[in-house]
Amino acid sequence: MAPIPIVFDTDPGVDDALALMLALASPELDVMGVCTVNGNVSLDICTRNALGLLQLLERNDVPVYRGADQPLVREPVYATEVHGKEGMGAAVLPVSHVAAKENAAAFLVEQLTQRPEEVTVIAVGPLTNLALAEKIMPGVLAKAKRVVAMGGAVVAPGNASATAEFNFYADPHAAQDVIRSGAKLTLVPLDATQQVGLAEAVIREKIVPLDTPMAKFVVDAVANVLAYGEQLGRDTVVYLHDPLAVGVAIAPSMFDCLQFSLDVETVGDLTMGQLVSDRRQAPVGGRLGHTVNCVMGVQADRFLNLFLERTLNLQAE
Ligand code: RIB
Ligand code: CA
Repeated sequence: MAPIPIVFDTDPGVDDALALMLALASPELDVMGVCTVNGNVSLDICTRNALGLLQLLERNDVPVYRGADQPLVREPVYATEVHGKEGMGAAVLPVSHVAAKENAAAFLVEQLTQRPEEVTVIAVGPLTNLALAEKIMPGVLAKAKRVVAMGGAVVAPGNASATAEFNFYADPHAAQDVIRSGAKLTLVPLDATQQVGLAEAVIREKIVPLDTPMAKFVVDAVANVLAYGEQLGRDTVVYLHDPLAVGVAIAPSMFDCLQFSLDVETVGDLTMGQLVSDRRQAPVGGRLGHTVNCVMGVQADRFLNLFLERTLNLQAE
């Protein structure tokens, strides 16, 4: 079967880097380009990280397009406490010999209009670039074969606030625009992504002993995430939020989906960025929101083994 052409939209970020590693190591996908967006860290740092990771992976054939340097409306928020000041934990990426291109939104429009119903967009950061593409050409997101977006929390608590997941919290207006766009959207919310994690013991016992450049990068990159979790007294695990979105595209049989009527709250001190699902039984006047396919279940061990095998050539026992 011919590989699926994808555009990878990202705010690298540690789990973004793991997701890009998985995408580039998967023969099911053909990465046409990487679009960077302001999110975990600033656009400049996200773009430098995307270029540096492609340099490390010897994949400078994949173009990087700089995207939005701020959310559509709200003030920017970052996640440096999780990903580190430079967005890659304790990992140091090589300096790329390649310059990024400009205008990620225009690249998205170009890819989706030149190859209607063929290109899958995998979005693992705030959805600003996708929303801007839709503003440039209303209806363009619906030309994608599908949009797979990591974001939101259907019934799970938020992680950026009590009610909101980070990607939706960082740009709630963009998330709302994408959900309302009519795109063939599969959402990968925290309800699913928090079922799959790299445990500290697996990192220590399986990844560290590999002693390869990529294993060292992963160990160094996740160090900050683990330290932050430990500092808060949480489980010492690195949730594979963004890699799961790639997994949906390469191994759909590992995932279970449900449809919900969804919209996104864009105001409110307590609720900005909240994904609202109307789960009422036959409400008068119909349910609010738009019907969206949500990944709610994952075969966690199968996916983790696939991830480790593809990114680090680590065979499951
Ligand atoms: O909530 C998890 C998401 O926010 C992931 O995409 C992570 O990289 C951060 O951007
Ligand atoms: Ca991300």
